[in-house]
Amino acid sequence: MTDSEKEQKYGQLVKEASALLDGESDLIANMANLAALIHETMGFWWTGFYIVRKGADDNEQLVLGPFQGPIACTRIALGRGVCGTSWQRRETIVVPDVEKFPGHIACSSESRSEIVVPIFSDKKVTAVLDIDSRYLNTFDETDARYLEQIVKLLN
Ligand code: SME
Repeated sequence: MTDSEKEQKYGQLVKEASALLDGESDLIANMANLAALIHETMGFWWTGFYIVRKGADDNEQLVLGPFQGPIACTRIALGRGVCGTSWQRRETIVVPDVEKFPGHIACSSESRSEIVVPIFSDKKVTAVLDIDSRYLNTFDETDARYLEQIVKLLN
């Protein structure tokens, strides 16, 4: 996919996502449909959400939410893996090669590159959007920019 094709696809995706979420306030329903829309439109390997929840020890952790793709790890601690690091740093993380990211959690051996986008509510990270690709170097700042825009629709 060329850069301009990617821009075009995301431009369309933002419009479709906005229409899809319009009029529905349930977070899980919206996350589920958003994961399906992004996954189908872009042809990624795994697309889904991890939601910040309290664990049995009363500490917050990321718990698997709505997703598309193969089964995945259910819980991720703060600062662990790409997801826990994005949550801790409160920023989007683009990983061109998962083998080069220290502490990457391999839910699927097929995954080669990844992007994680934090989702904020009142300045607190409440969830992350995690996307995996079967190819190296899939994600760049264009993905980051549009996906950050798309997750804001969840608020
Ligand atoms: N690779 C992620 C774990 C989640 S799976 O990719 C679905 C990570 O390192 O946080």
